[in-house]
Amino acid sequence: MFDQSFMPHGYCFLWNSNLIRLTVITDSLIALAYYSIPVALFLLAIKKKDAIPVRPLFMLFGLFIFFCGGGHAIDIVSIWKPVYWLKGWWNAGTAATSLWTAIVLIPRVAEFVKLPATAEHLQHLTATLQEQQWRLQSDLRARSALLDLAHDSIMVISLDGVIEFWNGGAEELYGYGKGEALGRVAHDLLRTRFPEPLSTIKKRLMTQSVWQGELDHAHRDGHQITVSSRWALRRDGDGRPTGLLEINRDITEAKRAEQVLRELSGRLLLAQDDERRRLARELHDSTAQSIAALGLNLEIVSGLAGKLDETGRQALAESQAMAEECIRELRTFSYLLHPPMLRERGLKCALSTYVDGFARRSNIAVDLHIPARLDRLPENVETALFRAVQESLTNIHRHSGSSTASIRIVRHAARVVLTIRDHGRGIPRSSPSRPNGASFGAAGVGIESMRERVRYAGGRVDLLSNEHGTMVKVQVPV
Ligand SMILES: Nc1ncnc2c1ncn2[C@@H]1O[C@H](COP(=O)(O)OP(=O)(O)OP(=O)(O)O)[C@@H](O)[C@H]1O
Ligand SMILES: [Mg+2]
Repeated sequence: MFDQSFMPHGYCFLWNSNLIRLTVITDSLIALAYYSIPVALFLLAIKKKDAIPVRPLFMLFGLFIFFCGGGHAIDIVSIWKPVYWLKGWWNAGTAATSLWTAIVLIPRVAEFVKLPATAEHLQHLTATLQEQQWRLQSDLRARSALLDLAHDSIMVISLDGVIEFWNGGAEELYGYGKGEALGRVAHDLLRTRFPEPLSTIKKRLMTQSVWQGELDHAHRDGHQITVSSRWALRRDGDGRPTGLLEINRDITEAKRAEQVLRELSGRLLLAQDDERRRLARELHDSTAQSIAALGLNLEIVSGLAGKLDETGRQALAESQAMAEECIRELRTFSYLLHPPMLRERGLKCALSTYVDGFARRSNIAVDLHIPARLDRLPENVETALFRAVQESLTNIHRHSGSSTASIRIVRHAARVVLTIRDHGRGIPRSSPSRPNGASFGAAGVGIESMRERVRYAGGRVDLLSNEHGTMVKVQVPV
């Protein structure tokens, strides 16, 4: 490789210093340029490996240029050192890589010809993207037209409450056109009345991503609308909240009908109470008096019993016993229909008497707790509470299997709370009267009419039941 028997190349230049300088400078520059090209090609091929479809060819071409650069570097050395063998082998390497590059390149020429020119390719890409964008936009337009068809009002609201989307349903429901609504703060525009503080609603929306409830809104012309509202939180790609979708359905008419129905059933219950009271009085004042008179007559006849034979005396005795039984039953029946002291002496007195009678008849030990000084309550509240105790005790007797029951009344500043508990088997799972179950079913109407009566007095009934017993909790505002 470094055979010193050859003459250095400088002799060919007759050691002309200018010629040598020129050769060294030009060869150095060419070598430098040749070296920088493969470095750039290698870096490009490594960094953009997905974008360059012919990476091996690219690398091979880089190697070929590297060899060319090396040839010029050796030429500089050979001016002083006769490294002709090194130069020969280096040329052999250059020839091999150039041949290899040619072998890989030539079969692919046809393929490269087919590759679109960059500008042409970019043009094609732009056209495709534009077409896709156009298709997406028309799809979006079709979808928002669909939203317009929806009868429900649909709005998209930003986090600070500004309306960003307002569909045809919203225009119809509230009377504001898109132009008037977009950009306005929704709850100012619609004068929303919330069922709970807006901050609480927002907190729930942020944690659960949805909120559902009833809202009162004002129509453009001022009339009130009640809507069933459903809110869903919108998030961006990183999960950050960006706003909400609010879908509202008009339930004004349904609410009005429900209110009328409640009024009606309340009035029906009052009429039923009046009827019961009338029947109880009728039974007490008329039928019971007639039977009492019958008893007196039988008493007179029994004074003449000596004149009767054995059969007559027996019939008389049986008739007297039957008359007494009738009077007892009539009294109980008329009391159950309407306890007379409820109106005259109040809930505490009526309940004590009723519970005593119930405990005696049913053999259920009832623990009754009423505050020593329970002032008189409004008549409808006292009736509702009395009927709740009556229905609950009857249920305990008929369904629970419990041998004990407890009744407790607590008077708070603004409400009265009545709880009735038993330690029986609990309300069956299948019963429509299960706590929070469907409200009305074939099982019976006791619990449901208790609820209705209490609701009419402005209160609520809650049921808690499991296999260890049942608790009925009645709360009425006073
Ligand atoms: N304390 C209780 N323990 C166990 N089950 C109960 C109790 N109270 C109610 N239930 C169950 O709930 C059902 C509904 O009670 P509800 O009072 O509404 O109707 P009912 O008592 O069956 O009939 P009605 O009261 O109309 O004469 C009952 O059929 C019973 O299965
Ligand atoms: Mg019942």
